[in-house]
This record gives sequence, structure tokens and C-alpha cells, in this order.
Amino acid sequence: MLVNKKILICVTGGIAVYKSVALVSKLAQAGADVKVVMTKSAMEFVTPLTFQAMSRNDVFFDTFDEKDSSVIAHIDLADWADLVVVAPATANVIGKVANGISDDMVSTVLLATTAEVWFAPAMNVNMYGNKAVIRNISRLAEDGYRFIEPSEGFLACGYVGKGRLEEPEKVVELISERFEPKNLPLTGKKVVITAGPTRERIDPVRYVSNFSSGKMGYAMAEAAVTLGADTTLISGPVSLPKPAGVTVIDVESAAEMFNAVCENYEDASIVIKSAAVADYRPAEIHPQKIKKGEDLAVIELERTTDILKTLGERKEKQLLVGFAAETENVLKNGMTKLIGKNLDFIVVNDVTDPDGGFGSETNVVTLLSKSGTNTPYPAMSKKELAHLLLENIIKEEGFGVIHDR
Ligand code: PMT
Repeated sequence: MLVNKKILICVTGGIAVYKSVALVSKLAQAGADVKVVMTKSAMEFVTPLTFQAMSRNDVFFDTFDEKDSSVIAHIDLADWADLVVVAPATANVIGKVANGISDDMVSTVLLATTAEVWFAPAMNVNMYGNKAVIRNISRLAEDGYRFIEPSEGFLACGYVGKGRLEEPEKVVELISERFEPKNLPLTGKKVVITAGPTRERIDPVRYVSNFSSGKMGYAMAEAAVTLGADTTLISGPVSLPKPAGVTVIDVESAAEMFNAVCENYEDASIVIKSAAVADYRPAEIHPQKIKKGEDLAVIELERTTDILKTLGERKEKQLLVGFAAETENVLKNGMTKLIGKNLDFIVVNDVTDPDGGFGSETNVVTLLSKSGTNTPYPAMSKKELAHLLLENIIKEEGFGVIHDR
């Protein structure tokens, strides 16, 4: 399972560092490509040379020591990893990441990566039970980080209790399970999702846009990953964390979104267009800031390309799912878009509904299909709704069996 898997081990300072040496050795023996990043405290226990010998790779510990001038090391490592495991994870590194602090190589890589991150804590039993540590762990768990719980037993500090780093064999087993191909309904299928608004520039300081926060589209991407999809999220400018396990392509304008979607269309099985794409853009982008004058300014607008309509015209095997943001005649207008853009499904939302629409945590929608089904969903969180929508779409299309979550 681990052959060619890129695993980044972040080693922080505790006596359990010696177990991380065994962990790196076992992962390398199992065929994984392992790289190691260490904190200064970890180096008090074991030297980088030990990890270098076990991993057969350079070991990183200084944010400013750029070994390869063609890349920035902490970003390169963050992007390289399929999985990041912090072992041992001290209370300090847990606290730093929970609070967005990055002041050394390990914490900087941890903040920069979009790969899945696991923490394997190891510390004194009372530290592990400390309220601040518990708070930081729950915050990280809420943010999608996973934990390998420490085991109970004799601790190096003389205490007996919970705080021992899980045995390297067990950690390798968990990592192997993580890479086992699972029989999920969307395994092997590429799902492309768009999210957020687009920004259409007027001049260097102004733009035309809308109120989309990206929450609906990001929730769709998270749901697609959970169902096993190889997920690509094409995102307009939003301030949301990148979902784990998703390839995120950042775009700004409708034209950039169009190009990114087209580049990812051919091998896509499902395309879900949750983005609120601007229908109009300024006909001209002024190179300098427009000065205010006495007269009323008029900005001439021109139509953007309708991305979804173009996809509908080029459709081969892809399943196309649109969203419709409506304020009146919601279902009728939604159905017109479903037919006019040659879609398989459309998720219709009344964006004037106080429980849904732009920016809110919840949404209220109706899923319409080209075969004539009409499924209303009551107000619920966008995350929950995304799962239900995707499961329904898969069921109707016969993509695979949905197991109870
Ligand atoms: O991001 P949030 O704050 O969570 O809000 C969620 C949402 C309200 C943005 C979302 O639920 C939603 O309704 N998204 C679609 C918004 C929209 O642009 O609707 P529309 O009816 O104008 O467009 C219909 C479809 O055509 C959409 O799938 C849209 O992505 C697509 N389109 C529109 C214009 C264009 N130039 N190209 C397109 O592809």
C-alpha cells in the first residue's frame, strides 16, 4: 500500500523521538518515500543524520536553510506530501497549529500543507489532560486534523498513564489502511467542483463581484472526497481553508474559471458548478485607478462566457450539475436553466430565504433532475446538505452503492 506514497514525518521534541526513528525506518522499508522535518528541540534527542540515514532523504530543520534554490523548502515539502504525520506531537506543536502559529520549519510546513495531517501526541499524562491541550486538540479535530491517540503505560517522566507515543508498527498499520483503496461510490471518479464568486476588474482597485462565500461549493468538495472521488475544486476568491484531500485551483475572474474548468473537463465524471460566476464584466479594464469626477460615472459591461452552458454543449460522458440562485419563480427558472444548459441536475435555491443563500451556514434547496424528479431539502447546514445532494445524485445515476455514514 505504501509504495511511492510520499509521507512527511514532522518530529517535535520529546523523549519519544527514538520511536520516530523506528517509524521512519519501517515506512521506508514498506516502500514509502519518507521525508523528515525536525524542530530544534527534537534535535536535542536525536540528530538529523539518524533520520537522514533511515529515510535516505535530506532532513529539514531550519526555515531559512534552502537546500535547493529552485524551490522554497517549506512550501515544496508542504506540497510534496500525500500525508503528514507529526510524531511525536508535543503539547507545544499542537498549541501552535491550533492557533495558526508558524515560527519554525515544522509549524510553517504544517500551516502551508493542504495534505491530510495526523498528530500522534506523546507527553506527560497531566499535560495530556491539561484543559488548554484538550481545547487545542478538539479545535484541531474540528478543523479536520486526525489524531493517533497515545497509549497508556510507563512514561519516561516516571508517571504511569496515557501519554506514550503509539508504537511505530501500529502507526505504520494505520497509515497503510489510509492508503488502501476503498470501495466507495466515487472511487476512481474525478469530480470537478466550482465555488465562490468571481471578481471582474474595473481598474487596479475596484471590481464587480457578488456575495458568494464559497461555503456551499467547499462543502460539496468535502462531500465528494468522503465518497472517494478524486476531487478538483476550482475556487474564486474566498477566505475558507482548503479542504483536505482536494486539489484546489484558485482563480479570480470568470474567464480564468472558464479556462480552469475546460482544462479539467475531459476526464471528469461529474462537474458541479456551485460558483456564482459573474454574468457581466467591465468591457474595459482601466490600467490606472479611475479618478472621481463631477459627472456620474458609467461603466460599460459585456457578457462573460456562460461556462456551464458551454460544458453542456460539449458534454460527452460527463454528469453536469448546476446551481441556480433565484429570487422569484424559483422552480420554473431553475427548470429553464436545467434544460437550456443541457444539465443532468440543478440545485435550485431561493437566495432571499433567510435560512439559505449567500454567506449563510445553512441552505434550503430543491434538486431537480432531467428525468423529472423533484426533491426538496429543508433548511440544514451546507455540509450536511452537500452529502445528501451528492448521495442522491449518485443514487439516481447508479454510480454505486451508498453505505450508511
Ligand atoms: O457560496 P455561498 O455563500 O455558500 O452561497 C451559495 C450559492 C448561493 C452561491 C450557491 O448555492 C448557488 O446558488 N450557486 C450558483 C450561483 C449562480 O451563479 O447561479 P445562476 O443561476 O446565476 O447560474 C446558474 C448556473 O450557471 C450556476 O451553476 C453557475 O455556476 C453557472 N454559470 C453562470 C454564469 C456563467 N457565466 N457561467 C456559469 O457557469
